[in-house]
Amino acid sequence: MDVTEAVNRRKSVRAFLPDPVDDDLLAELLTKASRSPSGGNVQPWRIYVLNGDSMARFREFLSDREPGPSAYDIYPPKLHEPYRSSRYKIGEQMYASIGIEREDKAGRFAQFAKNLDFFGAPAAIFCFIDRVMGPPQWSDLGMFLQTFMLLAQEAGLDTCPQEAWAVHEPAVMEFGDVPEELRLFCGVAIGKADEEHPINSVESEREPLDVFATFL
Ligand SMILES: Cc1cc2nc3c(=O)[nH]c(=O)nc-3n(C[C@H](O)[C@H](O)[C@H](O)COP(=O)(O)O)c2cc1C
Repeated sequence: MDVTEAVNRRKSVRAFLPDPVDDDLLAELLTKASRSPSGGNVQPWRIYVLNGDSMARFREFLSDREPGPSAYDIYPPKLHEPYRSSRYKIGEQMYASIGIEREDKAGRFAQFAKNLDFFGAPAAIFCFIDRVMGPPQWSDLGMFLQTFMLLAQEAGLDTCPQEAWAVHEPAVMEFGDVPEELRLFCGVAIGKADEEHPINSVESEREPLDVFATFL
């Protein structure tokens, strides 16, 4: 698989098979992903892994926890165009794929709640960053994330990055005994896609080049 193929094949998978993932493979992918660039080579990513027994224990731990307010603003309060429509579109595509109508608030909520089970994935990572870090380092963490997801693709694993976990920062920190100086950015569900599940048929769209690039 070359880079272009990995980029094109990666997509956010929202239904996973239970097939186990090897800890050694996760360690290898994380080690390789740490070749990602970062300003000043600060390498601000801090990763906590759930797999096998720790995933089972985490699911049990979370079962009596209520989500709270998000640890950060996932989107700006007033998302304007063209961003607003892009966000709306992917939501509509997702819900349409599984037959949930716009008015079906309970159905939409139930689908959102699947985030908090990693969509059934057998493994996951939580991505943390030191509270002193600012936008440049958050961007570094984003590079790490994409590198990790492409490497996972190359190794035959699918992923879904999940900001939804921002509603469970206290529980995640308590479970992982995560030091207070870190804050949670997102989780990433990891495993093999359930190709039969209709939600995995969603193909997200992209803006054309002239919307996001200006050749001077
Ligand atoms: C940092 C980050 C957080 C995300 N959080 C969620 C999430 O909580 N739940 C979810 O279903 N998708 C989440 N997504 C997936 C996006 O919706 C998805 O990347 C986008 O629609 C483009 O689709 P694609 O990943 O299939 O190309 C997230 C993506 C990123 C990069």
